[in-house]
Order: sequence, then structure tokens, then C-alpha cells
Amino acid sequence: MDKVLRPARHLRGEITVPGDKSISHRAVMIGSLSMGRTEVVGFLNAADPRSTLECIQAMGIETALTPHALHIVGKGLHGYRQPGAQLNAGNSGTTIRLLSGILAGQKFASQISGDQYLVRRPMKRIIDPLTEMGAQIVGTDKFTAPLKIFPADTLHGITYELPVPSAQVKSAVLLAGLFAEGRTTVEESQASRDHTERMLGLTPVRTEGKSSVSVTGGVQIPARQFYIPGDPSSAAFFIVAGLIARDSELVIKNVGINPTRTGYLDVLRSMGGKISIENERQIGGEPIGDVVVKSSELRSNLVLQGSIIPNIIDEIPILAVAAAFAVGTFEVRGAFELRNKESDRIGAVCENLSLMGLEVEELEDGFAFHSKSTLIPTTFDSYGDHRIAMAFGVAASGLEGESTVKDSDCVDISFPAFWDTLHILAN
Ligand code: S3P
Repeated sequence: MDKVLRPARHLRGEITVPGDKSISHRAVMIGSLSMGRTEVVGFLNAADPRSTLECIQAMGIETALTPHALHIVGKGLHGYRQPGAQLNAGNSGTTIRLLSGILAGQKFASQISGDQYLVRRPMKRIIDPLTEMGAQIVGTDKFTAPLKIFPADTLHGITYELPVPSAQVKSAVLLAGLFAEGRTTVEESQASRDHTERMLGLTPVRTEGKSSVSVTGGVQIPARQFYIPGDPSSAAFFIVAGLIARDSELVIKNVGINPTRTGYLDVLRSMGGKISIENERQIGGEPIGDVVVKSSELRSNLVLQGSIIPNIIDEIPILAVAAAFAVGTFEVRGAFELRNKESDRIGAVCENLSLMGLEVEELEDGFAFHSKSTLIPTTFDSYGDHRIAMAFGVAASGLEGESTVKDSDCVDISFPAFWDTLHILAN
């Protein structure tokens, strides 16, 4: 379906955003491997985490989703039964990559794949370290899904230095490490999100220029309650919408402010964004707060590159939209990973910015542009990618005139109520 959008005059009010997608996936997986009943409060009931849920249900794990919480009855590390059919990760890179780490440690064969977008995404990044641990895992000739995973004699702990800064790869290796003999260590030179470590109670060791985290195989995970904060990546869309709309003041309650995820707030503040955090607190091992945003005159003279990139990887499309409404220049480099997301996000961002009338230089690992005083309403293409749809939905709300976002239903992946929330706030 296409979404037709009109300019938002002002955005005022108090909203919440749905639960964190990364943490929701992990709560389901870790809960399913725990011994006993796990309660997940604030679970993101959207297509991506539901893919993870359906996969673990297909392996015999009982779950119940009530309006209050998701309940999971874990049967310990070896409580899965062989699925009767190929597991379906849908559109979700987190599901296929993290679950492959767990499947590598099972005593049964399994197969996992996903939708037309997921089968194009690179899986060598998990096949390589899991194989080094002794896993029997094969993909297609191009190292893509479907992945076939056969029972390994034993998995053994390894020390693995991440060749790409990726929390999905780090987490796949750590989860496989739960089934391995000895210790499994993952080292990273650029910090990626650390939810798996926090949820498994692992403490990273930071030395100059490097962080390493280890897990010991065979340790029973106690069942517990997980509280899922609002997803900072979802909040980012409304934060930018509030900054660029005139006469706006918006409060977004209970947003995750884990420092491995909030680089985008620093970037927006450095552009002159009036953003404050109130009521900061820790819940369930994650910092959260209420984000207050006011209309701002944004200026940009930024080159984003280096170690901030993994921190803002999911927010680069919406940061580009913020910069399109700012005065100045904006450049992203060293972000080749964006081409491997739900869509080629470098191509998608450049194309959609150009449709608004900007002259954008597309680079192999990023893009660059100068702002323009007039941007034109247009028909944006989401490329079936939830974050592209939402980023350019926000852009549309800042344009003078009617715009359209093609294939807008893909927001169901992480934020099913996105269009309704935007509509309610803008009216
Ligand atoms: C995620 C990690 C990131 C991010 C994705 C979710 C996770 O991917 O882009 O949306 O939950 O670990 P990479 O780790 O591949 O960069």
C-alpha cells in the first residue's frame, strides 16, 4: 500500500514507541534457553520479533502472548526439539544470524531461511566463526540463506576478532559459545550494541582500542523477567519529526538510552537539536529515559565516519533526513554495511534525497550532499525497508505539499503503529 502524507504543522504531545527490536529478539531466544518461566514485559509485537517467536515455537517451546507480557517456558540449553519444517526468519537478519548460533549447538539438523530480501543478505560473516567453532553450517554458493545446519560432534570455544563491527555476528558467536566446550571470546575494535552481553550477565573487558567479552559453555541460564525499553531507533523518527516541524514540543516516554545506541542523539544535538533526557533510570539492566524534543533550527557541517558508525547504523537514513532539513553539508563515510541491510540503504537514501531535489553524491561506503533552501514533495520509494519508509515518511511530513511513500506497510517489521502515531501527532 502507498501512504499519502501532508505537511505536519506542529507535533505536540506525549507518545511512547514500541519495545526495542534487538532486545525483544534476544529476550525470546535467551528465555527459550533458560530453565523455567521467563516473562517479557514490553515485547515488540511486530513482524521481526514474531519471526523469532515462531521459530522457537516450531522447536517445541511453549509461549503465550497476553496484553501484559510475553511468557516463555524455557527447557534449558537442550530443550528444543527438531523442527518439522524449514525455520522461517522472515525479513529478520537478527533472527537468522543469532538463531544460527543456537542451532549450531543442537543435536538435530535444521534449515533456516527468510523472505526475498533476507535471502540476499550476507551470511558468511556468521558461517566463518561458527565453522571455526566446529559447527556444520552451509549456505548457498554465495554464502546466503537458506542455511543448513547439521549436528556437530562438539563445538569448541574460540577467540574471534570481528572483521565487521556487527552485534549480530558478536551475538551469534556468544550464543554458540553457550553450547561450546571452554570459553568463547569475541573481540571488537568498534563498539556495537551490547544487549546480548547485558542480558547474559557478561562483563566486557575494555583495553585500549579494543573490547572483549567471553562466555563459558554449558552454564545454565536462570529464567527471569525482561523489561523491554522503547526502541531508540524507533524514537529517532519522531525526534527528527519534532525537530524539523515548526512550533513542536514532543515527549517520548521510556526510551532506551543504552550508550551503544544513542550516538544519533549526540549527532542531532551537534546540529543544534533541542533534545533533553528526563527521568533517567535503569530498568532490567538497561538505561532508559523520557526524551523531550523541541523545534530547532538545524545546521550541519558534519562528516560522520569511524567508530560512531556502528552506533548509528540504523539511524543514518533518518539523520540524512534531518540534514536535508538543516542548513549546511552532510557526509557519511565508512558505512558500507548500510548496503547489507533490509535494503541497500545507501542507494535508497541517495535516491529518495534526490527525489526531494537535493544533489547527492553517492559513494561506495556513504554519501554526501549540500542542503537546499527548497525541497520538493515527491513519491518516495521504501524499497520494502521499514526504516527507509519511516525516514522518508518523516521527510514527507516536513515538505510543503502532498508526498507519497510507496510500499508503506513494511513499517510492520518494527513499528506497526508508525503511520497512526504520525497522523495523530500531526493533527
Ligand atoms: C542488530 C544489529 C545491527 C542492526 C540491526 C539489529 C541486532 O546489525 O543494524 O537492525 O539486533 O544485533 P549488525 O549487527 O549486522 O550491524
